[in-house]
This record gives sequence, C-alpha cells and structure tokens, in this order.
Amino acid sequence: MNSTESVSIMRGTSRLPGFAGLAVRDRIALLQRRGLLGEDDAKALLAGARPACDAAAGGIDGNVIGTMSLPVGLGLDVCMNGRDYVVPLVLEEPAIATTLSAAAELIRACGGVEVKSEPVLTVRIPLVDLKDPQGARAAVLAHKADILALVNRLQPDLQPQGLTAQLHRAPESGCDILVVHVHVGTGDAREPAWPIDTLSEGIAPRLEALTGGRALAHMRSGLGNRRFMVHAKAVVSAQALVEKGRDGECIRNEIVLASDLARVDPDCAAAHNKDIMAGIDALALATDCDCRALEAAAHAHAARSDSYRALARWCTNANGDLVGELDIPIAPGAVAGGAPAHPVAAICHRLLGAQGARELAEVMGAVGLARSFSVLYAQAMNGIRPRDSAQRARSVARAAKVPASSAASVPQGLRDSGSIKIPETRELADSLRVAPAEVHERAAATRHDRPEDSAAWSVGHGKIILLGEHSVVYGRHALAAPLPFAIRALATDGADGIALSIPGWGVERRIPAHAPQQPSSDVVARLLQLVTQRLDLDGQDLQIRVDAGIPRGMGVGGSAALAVAIIRALSRLRNLQLDDEHVCALAFECEKIAHGTPSGLDNTVATYGQAVLYRRATSPQFERITLDESPPLVLGLCHHPGLTVETVARVRRAWSEQRALHEQVFDAMDTIALTGLDALRKHDWQCFGALMNMCQGQLQSLGVSSDELDDMIRIARNHGAAGAKLTGGGGGGAMIALCPDGRAPVVEALSAAGYDALEIQLQ
Ligand code: PMV
Repeated sequence: MNSTESVSIMRGTSRLPGFAGLAVRDRIALLQRRGLLGEDDAKALLAGARPACDAAAGGIDGNVIGTMSLPVGLGLDVCMNGRDYVVPLVLEEPAIATTLSAAAELIRACGGVEVKSEPVLTVRIPLVDLKDPQGARAAVLAHKADILALVNRLQPDLQPQGLTAQLHRAPESGCDILVVHVHVGTGDAREPAWPIDTLSEGIAPRLEALTGGRALAHMRSGLGNRRFMVHAKAVVSAQALVEKGRDGECIRNEIVLASDLARVDPDCAAAHNKDIMAGIDALALATDCDCRALEAAAHAHAARSDSYRALARWCTNANGDLVGELDIPIAPGAVAGGAPAHPVAAICHRLLGAQGARELAEVMGAVGLARSFSVLYAQAMNGIRPRDSAQRARSVARAAKVPASSAASVPQGLRDSGSIKIPETRELADSLRVAPAEVHERAAATRHDRPEDSAAWSVGHGKIILLGEHSVVYGRHALAAPLPFAIRALATDGADGIALSIPGWGVERRIPAHAPQQPSSDVVARLLQLVTQRLDLDGQDLQIRVDAGIPRGMGVGGSAALAVAIIRALSRLRNLQLDDEHVCALAFECEKIAHGTPSGLDNTVATYGQAVLYRRATSPQFERITLDESPPLVLGLCHHPGLTVETVARVRRAWSEQRALHEQVFDAMDTIALTGLDALRKHDWQCFGALMNMCQGQLQSLGVSSDELDDMIRIARNHGAAGAKLTGGGGGGAMIALCPDGRAPVVEALSAAGYDALEIQLQ
C-alpha cells in the first residue's frame, strides 16, 4: 500500500491521547498504525528525512554551506467544520504545538471551529501623469460597470465584484497617483488559468483612455493577489472555561477585555497578531507555503482601517458564551510554486489531508483562531502582573474611548481603584464619556422632560439624514428625521459676561461683556457672540448650562441642536417670544459658523423636531412627514468624529473643478431621496435599504466616506442590513443601517468589531 492510499482509507480522529508521553519512534509508529502515515513516510521520518536542500547544499544556488533543521510537531484535537485534522507544524518554539492543542481540545469540546472562505482576486492598476486627478477618479467610478463588464469579457470564468479608486499624493515625487482596485471572485478554480497580468494589461488601456493618464500595469503589488478571505468562528461556553477554581464567566470577561485591548491598541494588536501568525506560520512552513506573503497580507489587512487592529475578536453572545471570530486573507501558495519541494513538506501535506489550497487556507484560519484563544486564555488565567498594570490601565482607558482631555486621569483612577477589571473600568470610563447607554438615558429624559425641569429647559433636536446629505447643499432634496436624542439648555442671569458650560462635551467658555470678536477657530464662542448680538443681549451677564444628549461632531446634528437650544433658552429667559421660524433662521446663521455653506437642513430638523423632505431653493422649503412607523435603524459611531466643515469644503472644491460631473451625482441623489420618500411612506424597507446603498455609493464617489464608515457599513450589510450608509457630513462620525430582518445581529457585530452601536427609534 502506498502512503497516500493508507491515509485516505484510514484517516480518522485527531484525538491521540498519550501522544506527548511517547518517544519519537513510538509516535511515528502510532501515526502509522492510525493510518495517518504511510510506510515510506514513516521510514523517511525515522531516518530523519534529509531536506531537499541536499540539492541546494550541492552548491547550485544561494552560496549554501549547510542546512538548519527545525522540529516538526503536531497540533492535535483540531476540529474544523465537523472534520478532524492532525496539523503538522514546523516549530521554532515547541510550546506553539502544545498550547494550540490544548486550546483546540477545549474548542473541540464545544463543537469545534466553523470556517468559511471566499476566493478573491484583486487587480491593482496605478495611473500617473493625470492632468485632472479628481476628474480621472470620477470618470473611473462613473464607468465602473463598463470596466467590470470588460473583466468579464477578458476572463468569463471570473465574477467581477467591485471596483474602488483611490487618489494619493506621492510623498517624494509629488505626483498624483490614482490606484484602481478591481475585485473579482475566482469561484472554486484551483489554479489561475487567468494570469493577473492578462487582466491588468487588458484593463489598463481602457483606464488610460478614461483618465488620460499612464497606467503602471507592470507595477503590481504581488501581495496575495489571489487569496481566500477566511472567516473562522468558535463558540465556547463559559462553563467550559472554568479552571483552577476560577469562575468561567470571570475568565470569559477577562478574555473579552484582553481582546478589546487588542482591537484598539496597536501595540496589543501587534502582539496578538504575532501569536495568531505563530500558529499559521508553523503550518505554512510545514506545508512549504510562503510565510512572508502570508504575514504581509495579514498585517496589511489588520491595518486596513484607520488604525492597526487585532485580526481576531472575542465577545459574549446572548447566552453568555464566548464567541471568537477571525477574519484573515490567506494565500497558501507554495514558496516556489507547484508541488512542495521539500520531502518532509510533502509528508506534512499527506498527514494533514487537506484537499487543495482552499481547505489548507481554512485549516490555517482554524489554527489562527485557536492560537488567539490560547494566548488570551493564558493571559486571563495569569491575571494581571503588578508591573504591567500601569500600561494595561492606559490601554483600558483607550479601549473605553475616554476623551483625550480626561484620558490622563484614568490610568491613575484605575490604579487607585485597585482593580482594572471590566465593571470598574466601565464605571470609570462611563463617568468620563457619553456612552451609548447614557445617550439613551439622556434621550429618554429629554423625551419625557423631567417634571422639575420641563418648564425651564429648552430643546434642540438631534437628527439623522436618511438620504441626500451633501447634495442638499446644492439645492437637491434630502430626507431627514429627528433622533430621540436632544440638547437641552437652561439660561439664567449670570455675572461678568457670558458663561457657557457643556459638561458632556468638556466645553467651558467665559466671554467678558464687550469682548472683542472671538477667534475664528473658536466656533462655540463665535456662536454665542452671534446669538447674543442678534437677540440684542450683548453686554448682558448670562449663564447658560447645556445638557448634551448628543455626541459632538458625529454627524447627528450636534451643532444645530446646540444653537437651537441656546437661542430658545435665551428667548425664554428674556421673554423674547421668538417663534420657530425665527429660531430656525438664527440657527441657520450659527450653522454658517460651524459648516461654512450649510443647506439649512440641520437647523430645520433641530427646530421643528419632525421628519422632513427638505430642499433649499431661494428660501428653505420643507414638507413635514409623519412617520407612523419608525424604520428599523441601527446607528453606528466611528472612533473619529467627522469634520463636516471639511467634507463640505472638500465637496465644494471638487464641484468647482468638475461641475458637470458633480451635478450629475447630485441629480442622482435627488432622485434617490424622492424615491425614498415613497418607500418610507409605504414602509417598503427592502426598497429603502437599496436606496440607502445607492446613496452611499454616490457619497463614496464624492469622497466623503472613510475607512471606518466603510468598515461599519460592510459589517452591517454582512449581518443582514438591507441598506447602510454614512449619515451627516461623513469623513468619520456616524453610519445608519436599516435592518428589517433584525437589528440585534448588526448591533452585536458592530460592537464586536469595537464600534459603539445602538438601535434607534425615530420620532
Ligand atoms: O454632519 P452634520 O450632522 O452637520 O450634517 C451635515 C449635512 C450636510 O448635508 C453635509 C451639510 C448640510 O449643511 O446639509
């Protein structure tokens, strides 16, 4: 019987109890008895199979003077998609196999690792010598469908999936480079019959004609061009985690916290990814795959958003189980292409028994996730060493997204509390920021106005734009609705000029009576001066307290709501009896300070607190919409605020350079908003979701999305959202997802990815 036959006939379980206690000779014999090794392979291993380097050692190549061997070990108990694998590992560090096997055993007992993969190929074509870089980008995006159809004509067995175009300024040569990425699905094709060169060379002339530039089709990245996007998931019950008298839930919480740190702190992320890759590399070395390409692609993926993140994340599901997920691109290509050159690598392939590159990539994903679990579990069990506590506490502060102004005090606060465990951390963090839960509470308080306050506080509403941001600045329609969050202001007589305090935003201002015009950078002070001047209150002593139930700079209309609340509070204090129209008009003037060229949409919703179809003609026109059913929405917040003033200015610059193209985009957005009104009235959420996706496409073409927004939108769509888009000015801030099939999975997935997310009910 040859070795391959024996393996396929007798392959069975990956459980080999007592394996570690055997001598090497006996281990090989056991593997042979189990049918995992054929006779020849067993002999070769016993003889200490000479590496193929014998040929190289013969002096053909590379100035070889000898060979250096490493132990080959086994990862046991690995169960993936219901099948057992004995995983060969080349070990620079023997503990990798032991800890991997221990983790795999625990995961196996809870059902093993589920792995899915998607074969993908990315063709990248850089273009230079562009006369009109912005126009070139817009032209490529406008002809996306043609380019994808061309790919399909060039290689009919590929499935074109999408196209992105990013404009960069070359740091040294100073020229503009437009990098076009075409993403194609490769189906189950084993090996590319469609070399990537054919594709890039086929597309390049079309891109040159469209952009007037020169394609650098020969400068390919070569980094994991054909790869599998692997998604590995494991669910471990808290019960299974119980060890050494420690409570399973406590260990689970520690694992989640450690994982959170690696999601937000690049240093922790790098350490964690190294641990994941130690397992994947060990398998890659054993199977003669190119570790450098695997590493480079994995780290590039980890850094795809605005910051470097851990590739794996662990969270708690509704049952209290620990859930781990790993997303990683894997291109398990052989170092030299073709079959493994090294005889031991060939044995390792047979031992593993994966049928082709895709299955090998999936086992690598399972190994990576088990490694992630093993290191986090070990950290949780070790507890916190005193010497690490300060550094860890700082990371916790970052994980809790404490505002920069208060971050410095948190580590000390955590140390002072003598604990850096989850509940205490959250308490401390919550006392320093407006958490989503708090936003909810404040919203509820605002909605039902506490009895003792209701007479005194004045309200400005927060809003989301459902469809039509940015194009609304250019006279097109937009649909917007008030959020259940608001800003409340209370004005009283003060002393020594005007004092404003917004504790939730960390804002304190004191403007002495008759102070000179405030510097243009101080938006809040300028707003105060404008409002008091227009209301003939300048020179008066006023104290304004603001309760901000809306996060600042997150694209949910914070600046307009602040202006409305303050104007109303002052009108109430001095009995000016301003009606809504006057409040709205003055808030619009304030928005000019905040945004430059506002459309007037934000101040309209902030004032009237009602959903509207809005259009700015010579004067603002809006139709009030009664929402008899709130769309099932989720709001996701980026880690970075969006600077609406910047995105509005950026769109204006691009519009002034390419008016005709931008007018077309705005027209399309107008049609989308008007069609959306109809879908909203009919509660046709599938249609409304599709329109949100189309609107996001247009906003992307205007360059106002961001990596974080794109990431959240992708997560939401992958977890069942019918549509998802940025809301507000973009460039950061917030996104909304429409989830007729359930909001919980989307909130859970966004939270697991480290974003703040909450279900919202429109009024
Ligand atoms: O980011 P926000 O919440 O201020 O919304 C801005 C909306 C824009 O359409 C981009 C600008 C505007 O004035 O309408």
